[in-house]
Amino acid sequence: MCGIICYVGKDKVKPILLEGLKRLEYRGYDSAGMAVQFGGGVELYRAVGKIIELEKKVQDVELPGTCGIAHTRWATHGEPSEENAHPHRDQAENVFVIHNGIIENYHPIRKRLEKSGVRFRSQTDTEVLAHLIALSFDGDLSEAVRKTMSQIEGTFGIAVIHRQRPNEIVIARRGSPLIIGVGDGGNFAASDVSAMVRYTNQVVHLNDNELALLTADGYSISTAQAKSVTRVAETVEWQAEDAELNGFPHFMLKEIYEQPDTLLNAIRGRLEPGEGVPKLGGIIPVWERLKDCRHLVIVACGTSYYAGCVGRYVFERLTEIDVEVEIASEFRYRKLNFPPNTFIIAISQSGETADTLAAIREARRKGAQLLGIVNVVGSSISRETLAGVYCHAGPEIGVASTKIFVSQLTILTLLALLLGRHQNLSLTEGVEAIQALSALPDQIKKVLSYDNHIQAIAEKYYRCSNWLFLGRKYQYPIAQEGALKLKEISYIHAEGYAAGEMKHGPIALISPAMPTVALAPRDSMYEKMISNIQEIKSRKGPVIAIVTEGDEKVRELADEIIEVPPTLEYLYPILTVVPCQLISYYCARFLNRDIDKPRNLAKSVTVE
Ligand code: G6P
Repeated sequence: MCGIICYVGKDKVKPILLEGLKRLEYRGYDSAGMAVQFGGGVELYRAVGKIIELEKKVQDVELPGTCGIAHTRWATHGEPSEENAHPHRDQAENVFVIHNGIIENYHPIRKRLEKSGVRFRSQTDTEVLAHLIALSFDGDLSEAVRKTMSQIEGTFGIAVIHRQRPNEIVIARRGSPLIIGVGDGGNFAASDVSAMVRYTNQVVHLNDNELALLTADGYSISTAQAKSVTRVAETVEWQAEDAELNGFPHFMLKEIYEQPDTLLNAIRGRLEPGEGVPKLGGIIPVWERLKDCRHLVIVACGTSYYAGCVGRYVFERLTEIDVEVEIASEFRYRKLNFPPNTFIIAISQSGETADTLAAIREARRKGAQLLGIVNVVGSSISRETLAGVYCHAGPEIGVASTKIFVSQLTILTLLALLLGRHQNLSLTEGVEAIQALSALPDQIKKVLSYDNHIQAIAEKYYRCSNWLFLGRKYQYPIAQEGALKLKEISYIHAEGYAAGEMKHGPIALISPAMPTVALAPRDSMYEKMISNIQEIKSRKGPVIAIVTEGDEKVRELADEIIEVPPTLEYLYPILTVVPCQLISYYCARFLNRDIDKPRNLAKSVTVE
């Protein structure tokens, strides 16, 4: 959602903040702002729209300050406007605060403060923080923030500066991620590692209900109860180039093209080909219990949820385990009753999605054991789960997830294979799985080589305002993911359906104006998919079919054909999703959409 970047040190802060904001823009982009300490005061700049608007405002301003805070906003309370943009300030303009999250009790606090004469300038929940901190301040900014933390309910990651405390930034967290970056000659704080990777790879994660004081020389962490905490920096593996376009027009396309490497990174060092067994170091702490697990629940949101839906079929194919998959925001409201030794797998790119976090906390309360499949090392989900497997996919900047989906599918397969091999799965099947997995990076490259062909298909159909994606079994979640991608970035309405359900409703929509993407690789559902394609063709619906190389039957029926190389049935999703991603990407491009920052969406959804 919103993004935070702060710096205090010996260098001028303005370019550091602008650079960080640009890297965070994928988190929220309806307005942005910065506050910089300078000459005994604080200069405040804010602008509606993208970071470029803020940049225009400050580009000619001489700002020698070396301590400042900056924010990019994704509106929750109050429309996107300059007054609602962060930083927010108290009446006397001493305290400047930026905030990610939601202050749930802001309304009664605001009423109380207004009664006592405080005038508010914005409609945001955040502004109460600035007033509360100002009222609690008696010379010690950390103390004022600590007192304020005790009065507020909800989630927050905040950064605060005070006019009378030059070269000090206080940050605090409850529920929204905040990371300290330890630099050479200065220190950073950000909601996301990618905002700081250009300057440092040494990071310290703040835990919930902790605050930290940053100065040019160091940082000190303490709890909300004023107990001091010692935590040393960790090294992050991401490089600055990972968060750059490197010649691609969009991050989404770059990330689609990175998928062969993403897959390699997910399997690197994790395969034992001769034994037909993967090695997953991250789950060793729970292995003794996990190997006897018979009930597994996967929880996730968005694209990660669809990865979980594919995962269910894979687990059912390779193991003896009963698997449920649930959307995290629904799961948390269920009456949960787990059989003994139930494991929950939370799947999350960011590791910070509020609903997924809430779901696993509820599951833990009810006695389940938690595992995570997460990309961001050190993120909240990775720290709240007992064990797990990292995706090691590098940062994903495009808001619509692509490469991480492939990574999640790969890791779910590795996990299922590992458990299956300790249950009934034979050596032959294990070896066959590992061989097929190892072949996937080159096979994805082959699908990517059809880029021009897929672009031409998108050019033919992008004006159609309704699309249908159909698949069965392993391909059903891919149909849903394909439809989600198209909606997210092109704003074309699309439905992802189980092909068998088509005759129970969507068939009424079929017409020459509504293309259907039919996922029909040569798997156990192939013949049934052919029947569905025939039903569509007899109603004059255009069909774009994704098939296995050399398929002649579907070629005769469909209007367009996209081929993928042959693989095992349960690995086809990793190949068939790629043309779906490219179709969405090119439709969005023909429609001139803002592909990496689609309207209203955010990369990391840290509010419920
Ligand atoms: C947002 C993003 C999606 C992502 C979903 C879940 O909606 O736009 O791309 O799939 O959140 O995020 P997570 O970080 O938990 O995978």
